[in-house]
Amino acid sequence: MSKFSHLELQPADEFNDLRIKLANDSDPNKIDVSAGVYRGEDGDSFTLPVVRKAKHLYHEENYGHDYTFCLGLPEFVQNAAKVAVGETAVSKKLVASCQTIGGTGACHLGALFLSQSSGYKNFYLGIPAWPNYFPLIKQAGGTVTTYSYYDTDNKCVDFDAMVTQLNTAPAKSVFILQLCCHNPTAADLTIEQWSQVAEIMKKRDLIPFFDAAYQGFASGSTETDGLPIQKFIELGCEVIVCQSFSKNLGLYGERLGCLHVVVSDASNTPLVSDQLRYLFRAECSSSPAYGARLMALITKSDELFAQWKKDLQDVSVRLRTIRDTVYKLITEKYKTPGTWEHVKTQRGLFWYSGLTEAQSKKLLEEYHVFLPKNGRVNVAGLNDNNIDAFCAAFDAVVRN
Ligand SMILES: Cc1ncc(COP(=O)(O)O)c(C=O)c1O
Repeated sequence: MSKFSHLELQPADEFNDLRIKLANDSDPNKIDVSAGVYRGEDGDSFTLPVVRKAKHLYHEENYGHDYTFCLGLPEFVQNAAKVAVGETAVSKKLVASCQTIGGTGACHLGALFLSQSSGYKNFYLGIPAWPNYFPLIKQAGGTVTTYSYYDTDNKCVDFDAMVTQLNTAPAKSVFILQLCCHNPTAADLTIEQWSQVAEIMKKRDLIPFFDAAYQGFASGSTETDGLPIQKFIELGCEVIVCQSFSKNLGLYGERLGCLHVVVSDASNTPLVSDQLRYLFRAECSSSPAYGARLMALITKSDELFAQWKKDLQDVSVRLRTIRDTVYKLITEKYKTPGTWEHVKTQRGLFWYSGLTEAQSKKLLEEYHVFLPKNGRVNVAGLNDNNIDAFCAAFDAVVRN
């Protein structure tokens, strides 16, 4: 009798299942708009020109294969902090940071730090949301209270519901805030709304927990996309930022992320750093070096840093162009019944199309268009070769 037969099956992972199904689908015309990966015109995950150049430089040196420190590669961590929380907080020594295994690792370590080290266990989450928050917070010992994030009728943030929740949650509750390119709704707060949220959170002593998984993909600039975090820091809030370089550097498999904790008093920075070191040591000891070295090379060189900025501009322009083309095709060529402006107004990789679960399933099963059942479309999966076929299939499932 096995000692493990009492284990219960855990909920399936929709994206993992979709990846497997996609790999096994032999249809040459299959279309993948599922996972949040920026794809180039050829449909493959895209290597940013800046990463190509950094890889070249990397191979000119011999870095060896030693461990990095528990808190990560220092030249990476420092520069990652500047991107996420700005130079001022870094120069005032208000930031404790730890390199992590992607943005997921940063969210996990951030939740662990709040829930287990600091005793802040009440997490508030606007839904729909990235599904991984739920198990991640549970495993960190926290509890999740949900509220409505999305106004389905008006296809925008349900700001009234958010403000109500902010005004009623107990002090020291944690609010998970996606910085930009919200997953899955692609609906973000305006900068005025962010200011309002920051004021309420400061006044009510709530803890902002930013998930910065797509910084740079909304406006094409990491600085502009990072402005909401600045609003909180300017007000003197203590802020958690979970940073990912999976999307904005295209380093998905390298698992490059960083957790930043901005404190209001620099005398507490060493204490927070020490906790992060302690937590991370027990789980991973240290992080992978390769992606961190690439990022350090990019931030060290003015030329490469400028190239990164240009690459992000190019990505955001291309995403907008794809959105415009989809809009044109479904409204002018296919005359698909419904209102579709949101394909143009939403930002980043995703279009929260509004397809029902049945329609999304039909797209997958009958047209080999791979997307999750909530109807979220990764517009970067569309290109000159497949965009018309996608819109034709989309039109067909909406009509029938
Ligand atoms: C909202 C959100 N947060 C965090 C992550 C995790 O990013 P990473 O792949 O770097 O772990 C993702 C990934 O898709 C995401 O969409």
